[in-house]
Amino acid sequence: MIRTEDLTKRFGQLTAVDRLKLSIGHGEIFGLLGPNGAGKTTTIRMLTTLAKITAGRAWVRGHDVAKAPLAVKRVIGVAPQGLNLEIELTAVENLDYHGRLHGMPRHERRARASELLVFVDLSGKKDVPVDQFSGGMKRRLLIARALMHRPQILFLDEPTVGLDPQIRRKIWGLIQALKSQGVTVLLTTHYIEEAEALCDRVGILRKGRLIALDAPAGLMENVGKYAVEAEGQNGMDIRFFKERAEAVSYAGGIRRDVTIRKTNLEDVFLSLTGEKIGE
Ligand SMILES: Nc1ncnc2c1ncn2[C@@H]1O[C@H](COP(=O)(O)OP(=O)(O)OP(=O)(O)O)[C@@H](O)[C@H]1O
Ligand SMILES: [Mg+2]
Repeated sequence: MIRTEDLTKRFGQLTAVDRLKLSIGHGEIFGLLGPNGAGKTTTIRMLTTLAKITAGRAWVRGHDVAKAPLAVKRVIGVAPQGLNLEIELTAVENLDYHGRLHGMPRHERRARASELLVFVDLSGKKDVPVDQFSGGMKRRLLIARALMHRPQILFLDEPTVGLDPQIRRKIWGLIQALKSQGVTVLLTTHYIEEAEALCDRVGILRKGRLIALDAPAGLMENVGKYAVEAEGQNGMDIRFFKERAEAVSYAGGIRRDVTIRKTNLEDVFLSLTGEKIGE
């Protein structure tokens, strides 16, 4: 559904996305994970025709993004990182406006908007102006708007940024429901748990480069499924082990306080880069 070959974006001297190679299948939830400035938004902006590709190529459902941007726009929905709702309009007016831009007839816009407001649990707020919405409500409306014209591919840039864990889980539920309806989802996040809980596969981006790509479990197994943390002279020392028995035996030989735990995607990033993704 989405494919890129050496996709590159340069801003002057800065290479924001560097020869990215991706292939995302039908019905997959694919996550781009990386710290601030890694190039996640720039990648989404190129794939959604909003930013010009400097070099390389990209296809969305077989359409060349540079050559057939209108064909691409018809099959995708986009929920951008910055909330760009019309805040003076109500929830239902925002959806209706988007439907009009996509040439949907009035009766279809009405039916689809009602259906989506139920889906994102905002039916009770349909006539409330968006400037009275909380952050979580705005994020959910943004997803509903992206779905208005029934796209097969959905791009979600940081769909849960700044939301509390309860609302975050609610949005994860929505994304999983979309997958079961056959929608392909490309999302970006810098939340480790989000990538782990939600994504079928994760690409880790750092300074524009894809440094790892696999299912979360595969990424963690590659590093070693068990982590042993011990207080070191310069902060925490972490070692990774493939087998639990090895981890236990190593921990047993340490005189300081030690913790044995399961490896997570933060550890994967740390072991690849020596840095933390952070929040
Ligand atoms: N229009 C622009 N002009 C110049 N530089 C830009 C522009 N847009 C992005 N950049 C730079 O490109 C790099 C990648 O930015 P991008 O927004 O894609 O990162 P990101 O991974 O989405 O980060 P975040 O987690 O903060 O959203 C950054 O160094 C950023 O400063
Ligand atoms: Mg971003």
